Amino acid sequence: MSDRYQSFTKTPIGRLAVKNLGLPDPATLRRYRAGDPLVTGTVLLGGRGRLAESLPGLLAPLGIDTAAAGATEDGARFQGLVFDATGLRSSDELVELERFFTPRLRSLDPCPRLIVLGTPPELVAGPERVTQRALEGFTRSLGKEIGRGGTVQLVYVADGFESSVASTLAFLLSPKSAYVSGQVVRIGTAHATAAQTAALPGGGAPLAGRVALVTGASRGIGEQIARVLHRDGARVVGLDVPQAASELQRVTDELDGDWLTLDITAPDAPQRIARHLTEKHGGVDIVVHNAGITRDRKLANMDEDRFGSVIAVNLTAPERITAELLAQGTIRPNGRIIGVSSIAGIAGNLGQTNYGASKAGVIGLVDSLADELTDGITINAVAPGFIITQMTAAVPFATREVGQRMNAMAQGGLPVDVAETIAWYADPASTAVNGNVVRVCGQMLLGA
Ligand SMILES: NC(=O)c1ccc[n+]([C@@H]2O[C@H](COP(=O)([O-])OP(=O)(O)OC[C@H]3O[C@@H](n4cnc5c(N)ncnc54)[C@H](O)[C@@H]3O)[C@@H](O)[C@H]2O)c1
Repeated sequence: MSDRYQSFTKTPIGRLAVKNLGLPDPATLRRYRAGDPLVTGTVLLGGRGRLAESLPGLLAPLGIDTAAAGATEDGARFQGLVFDATGLRSSDELVELERFFTPRLRSLDPCPRLIVLGTPPELVAGPERVTQRALEGFTRSLGKEIGRGGTVQLVYVADGFESSVASTLAFLLSPKSAYVSGQVVRIGTAHATAAQTAALPGGGAPLAGRVALVTGASRGIGEQIARVLHRDGARVVGLDVPQAASELQRVTDELDGDWLTLDITAPDAPQRIARHLTEKHGGVDIVVHNAGITRDRKLANMDEDRFGSVIAVNLTAPERITAELLAQGTIRPNGRIIGVSSIAGIAGNLGQTNYGASKAGVIGLVDSLADELTDGITINAVAPGFIITQMTAAVPFATREVGQRMNAMAQGGLPVDVAETIAWYADPASTAVNGNVVRVCGQMLLGA
């Protein structure tokens, strides 16, 4: 399932065609390999506000080298630029963004990581609210300009949560976020407790001792989620339909994990899952609602079964399973509930009224629970764009080409890109990351 167009652009004739015909030129994205340092190269820190002073101390234990803007920078190249914009209180101060970023944009390593830190606009008022809201247009636009596999994000940090940013910066500064760009992350806004544990440097096992349930784990994105959570130390319980039992066992055997086969839409599925997790594992720490289906048809040609089955698998089952696991106390303190939404749930998609509704509903589930959860339990979702899997390999060539190129990186993502984002939410240090929906879409041009 390789991207043949991208391979072609790396050949001599392909390079010529890209240059002369102005064709999309997908960069080779750097992805994280187990044991690698989180960041190779230096991260330059600038700006002024609540976070600037504490950043070097937060990043050093993660093995991330930092330098302060204004120190000798002659000839220096940077892997990352982080600008603390929490001190900007009126719109005329926004020019400080230009002063920091512009002179450094030509001295960045390949696949650079740029981050702006701000204050959630909804938590402040007047000119400060205007200024902080403006940061979103800046980062989303820079994301579309940066090129060379670079990413640009905005992280809004609520007052009092300055020390809870480590796991988020570790993810966003590292190759783990290769296909995540133009995103806005909020820390400490929904009901949240400050992080107690620090994220570990690359090679660590932040999920050691944790049990993770992954639905739809026999293949595609679910299989990769299982692999990445296992890499980070979790004991994985894979779940899939009985027809996928042998593939599921192959995956979980390799990961020294456990498995469970059932249809998540079965009336007694939530109770059976709760019982299995309690009896065999004493509970669960991470629940990833990944299982999903599509049954595309324009609404004019839709029948009730097609519509209803997609809602049942993608939305009603995660709602019911989550409710049961919470009611039974199966999810342990500092637990994680993670939904898999889709760009179709944000921008809509032709032929996908059922799928779009189900995936927007997953975002609704995040919104409805984020403020209610207690004991450090969080709920967040990922919204993948075009991810290269068996499902998307079946999409007709022309549609697939458009889907793959219509993003700032001019390529599709890989299942591992979704899995790494989920591993960031799952990190025990991400307790203050609650109520977020992050797109894993290479900054797709649809649905900003
Ligand atoms: N591939 C993409 O581009 C893309 C984009 C956006 C969102 N997503 C979402 O990511 C998730 C995984 O997608 P994928 O591409 O890996 O799909 P996939 O079809 O390869 O895998 C889905 C898995 O879910 C399982 N499953 C389906 N119905 C089930 C049920 N009733 N009970 C238990 N298990 C069931 C399947 O057996 C399968 O193993 C889905 O929720 C999908 O909607 C995928």
